[in-house]
Amino acid sequence: MPNQHANQYEYDVLIIGSGAAGLSLALELAPQARVALLSKCTLHSGSTQYAQGGISAVLNANDSIQSHVDDTLNAGAGLCDPDIVHYTVSQGAERIQWLIQQGMEFTRNDNRSDSGESEYHLTREGGHSHRRVIHAEDATGAALADSLTEQVLENNNIDVFERHLVIDLIVHNKQGPGQRRCEGAYVLDRDADHVKTFAARFVVLASGGAGKVYLYTSNPDEATGDGIAMAWRAGCRIANMEFIQFHPTCLYHPAAKSFLISEAVRGEGGKLLLPDGSQFMSDFDPRGELAPRDIVARAIDHEMKRLGSDYVFLDISHRPADFITRHFPNIYARCLEYGYDMTTQPIPVVPAAHYTCGGIVIDRNGQTDIHNLFAVGEVSFTGLHGANRMASNSLLECLVFAHAAAGKIQSLLPDSPAVGWQVPWDESRVTDSDEEVVVSHNWEELRRFMWDYVGIVRTTKRLQRAQRRIDLLHNEINEYYRNFRVSNDLIELRNLVLVADLIIRSALQRTESRGLHYTLDYPEPAPLAHNTVLIPESGQHHYYDY
Ligand code: FAD
Ligand code: SIN
Repeated sequence: MPNQHANQYEYDVLIIGSGAAGLSLALELAPQARVALLSKCTLHSGSTQYAQGGISAVLNANDSIQSHVDDTLNAGAGLCDPDIVHYTVSQGAERIQWLIQQGMEFTRNDNRSDSGESEYHLTREGGHSHRRVIHAEDATGAALADSLTEQVLENNNIDVFERHLVIDLIVHNKQGPGQRRCEGAYVLDRDADHVKTFAARFVVLASGGAGKVYLYTSNPDEATGDGIAMAWRAGCRIANMEFIQFHPTCLYHPAAKSFLISEAVRGEGGKLLLPDGSQFMSDFDPRGELAPRDIVARAIDHEMKRLGSDYVFLDISHRPADFITRHFPNIYARCLEYGYDMTTQPIPVVPAAHYTCGGIVIDRNGQTDIHNLFAVGEVSFTGLHGANRMASNSLLECLVFAHAAAGKIQSLLPDSPAVGWQVPWDESRVTDSDEEVVVSHNWEELRRFMWDYVGIVRTTKRLQRAQRRIDLLHNEINEYYRNFRVSNDLIELRNLVLVADLIIRSALQRTESRGLHYTLDYPEPAPLAHNTVLIPESGQHHYYDY
């Protein structure tokens, strides 16, 4: 049983986040370890729940690991780590098999024509030269979350804490510089409205990406970059934050909150059209609609600006209606709710912030720069995605690195001592806020100027303007944080501002255009590709050390 007294909880492993990364890690660890699985909302929160297209894996005899590797390297525009790409891609089939063992059901292939074909339907997405995206209709993430959640809830070794928001990591510096060790986290119980202390022998950040830093995003509200911000404050290196992926096709409708229209719609023949009905993608890339995402999003942005249009169209109505409703039942239903019948008419689409390619630097076992602190999933930087993630490689990365981290933690557990009592959260010097409007105003301002100045097409001048605004916000929010009792919105805003700062700083350092980072001041790639690795300056760490 976990040690639990006076708001102190003690576990073998504390997992922060219940998306694909956190759920799969918890299940893999549970046979050997007592696990606390925390989510700041419900278990069904985070981006995983919304994933549509599927999971990339080599499952067809006509495909090959080398081809998946080559496509990933190509999409990554010279910045992927080839060893990590091979390591990840070669585990695809095994990880899919594991999901099937957990009860996940994928869409089957009704029309198998040769013996080399997979028994499952494989769709295509941008950058993939083969059909290799296994999926559950057009709601793969929900199917994955449902099956793993069911297993988690039945497992006696996993304690679930919903609506528990991690504020910061507890990091000790007992053995001297470079020997920091994570021993837990301070956690706001959102319902009880007080801060608890979780101590653990291992802590894993599985808290997802930071899409909410932009005004328009396909990401859910939870994607506020908390894990990246906490890791930076604790002293971890953060890499490649300038590479924010904009998904080319979100539904354009004021009430749709950037609802994603899966790339699989283009994979199954959907065409991008200008308002006059003409196709344009072949003017930008010979792969047309199935070029990698950075190219398609930039082409749409270019055409929208050239024509002064608020959107372009995506049209799949030339395919039979029953094909569309069978393959895309959820997208079809959502579009219909907003008045668009995709079986008979084109739908208006726009790009929106979608995926954080950078993150906490980890090794192939998920280990960060701090002892006993791991990171897996979108929060991390593994080297897989380079300057642009290829579609459906993210869920694969979550599964592969969760599996690796589980193996590493299991091997370390027998020799790692219990961490024991930690100094509780101190609220003695703060009061209740009397100016919540500061928080809501700054949320709005931040997300709008990130969209305007740090978006799909950048310039040094706009980035510098954003940097000045961020500096002001940073000071204002930190002062607010020091003086007032923490709330959910304040904690998220504090993290968003820090993550925005890391994005801008990284973007300013990249004096070239590559993959998702495109700047008018340096429109060409530099001859040598390098990662942008930000290192917390010594003395600027903000960690709890008692
Ligand atoms: P998430 O699933 O985002 O989960 C994060 C978890 O952390 C949540 O439980 C959240 O509540 C919790 N959390 C965050 N901060 C805190 C905190 N401070 N305290 C406590 N808990 C916290 N990828 C693909 O490969 N294929 C696809 O088809 C695909 N489609 C997508 C469609 C959409 C609309 C979106 C938004 C993304 C899509 N992606 C897809 C990307 C992919 O879904 C994500 O990268 C992946 O699901 C991330 O999983 P994760 O476990 O790392 O984080
Ligand atoms: C999509 O279905 O278009 C999203 C796929 C992804 O982000 O990997």
